[in-house]
Amino acid sequence: MTDPAVTRRGALTGVAVGGLSLPLLAACGIGGAGGAAGSPHGSPGDVLVATADVPVGGGVVVPDHDVVVTRPDKSTFEGFSATCTHQGCLLSGVAGGTINCGCHGSQFAITDGANVAGPSGSPAGSIPPLPRVAVRVEGKNIVWA
Ligand code: FES
Repeated sequence: MTDPAVTRRGALTGVAVGGLSLPLLAACGIGGAGGAAGSPHGSPGDVLVATADVPVGGGVVVPDHDVVVTRPDKSTFEGFSATCTHQGCLLSGVAGGTINCGCHGSQFAITDGANVAGPSGSPAGSIPPLPRVAVRVEGKNIVWA
């Protein structure tokens, strides 16, 4: 026979863990390193990011659209899928001149999305490049083209 107090405690613990796990899962999907990504999505004219927020020689991951916007030079902006072509993690960011994946360390060129360092130390070109996403400058923003 089961002790009702233990059963109730177990149920409450389950509720507490269940209540905590939903926000954590949602956070992974929104932008945490290691979270699963989807595929780029948007409509023409959707604002992705302000041009002023994209550093020259760097870029910005826009998790709401699963896009990474890069700026190889002052006047050039590029768009790529923010889903790593290795195992589908959301790319973690742009630093050191590359688009980086926090899951297994892959890196991609900010100019064309080419794989410049593969997962877990494997060589460049080990995995496919990031698919391009059409973006354009509209006023002070980068928008979905
Ligand atoms: S999922 Fe990006 S390196 Fe493995």
